[in-house]
Amino acid sequence: MITIAIDGHSSCGKSTMAKNLAKELGYVYIDTGAMYRSVTYYAMQNGMIDAEGKINTERLLADMPNIKISFKFNPETGRPDTYLNGECVENKIRTLEVSNHVSPIATLGFVREAMVAQQREMGKAKGVILDGRDIGTTVFPNAELKIFVTASAEVRAQRRYDELTARGDNANFQDILENVLQRDHIDRVEDFVLAREAVLALQVVAEGGVVAVHPLAGVLDGAPGQAIQGDDVVRHLVQGHTASQGGVAVQDHDHILDGGGDGALLGELQLRRPVGSR
Ligand code: DC
Repeated sequence: MITIAIDGHSSCGKSTMAKNLAKELGYVYIDTGAMYRSVTYYAMQNGMIDAEGKINTERLLADMPNIKISFKFNPETGRPDTYLNGECVENKIRTLEVSNHVSPIATLGFVREAMVAQQREMGKAKGVILDGRDIGTTVFPNAELKIFVTASAEVRAQRRYDELTARGDNANFQDILENVLQRDHIDRVEDFVLAREAVLALQVVAEGGVVAVHPLAGVLDGAPGQAIQGDDVVRHLVQGHTASQGGVAVQDHDHILDGGGDGALLGELQLRRPVGSR
């Protein structure tokens, strides 16, 4: 069992990828974006955000110890639902209203501190997949596998538009695109830079609904920049770690240094082909 960190921009398919992988591997999926959304929903419900969007940080700070977020597997959907103090808020936190308020909430230091502490607690036992912005850098810097996912603002807006309309919500593409661009602006840009740097070898890009992996350093088969089906590669990576078979093995730092070979540094992680698999 390892810890898998998936960082990147919102609405580019990283949570779908994480959920599918968790189901397949029997890992626990922790959606950290849902946690920041839940805090936002809590603040909205308790009148801590005024009509201009101003947050009453004093009241929110005082209430932080009373905000407990958990995830429960839903056998009907095959995915975990988000709970806020025991109430299922899975749908309530996905509205455009919550999306519009979440970025400033997620930039508050005391909110981040509380959420990171809850995430570390949940991930203590390993066998977890977390997705967010700061997982491979702050929450679990020793995660054995770190992945960075991104896509253009238009592709991400389209994904969110499709999600909302599939649920029967009224959605306007321009409004959503604006929300995506605005959140990119407010979300801490340095997080993305750091997260991307923590992952030297792999970049996952959502393109027209397909999540593709672009090897940055040519450690996977295929030239840098050439797309490979994302889920397959990640599955391969995880299996490689545990079974040491297939085209790519993911091994821990010390082990790979001992083994030598054509390892490429991937943050704290080394990626290489197993001997004889060329
Ligand atoms: O991925 P998402 O759209 O559900 O994320 C919601 C918000 O939470 C987004 O504005 C960025 C923020 N976020 C964060 O700051 N750190 C994380 N680890 C995850 C999300």
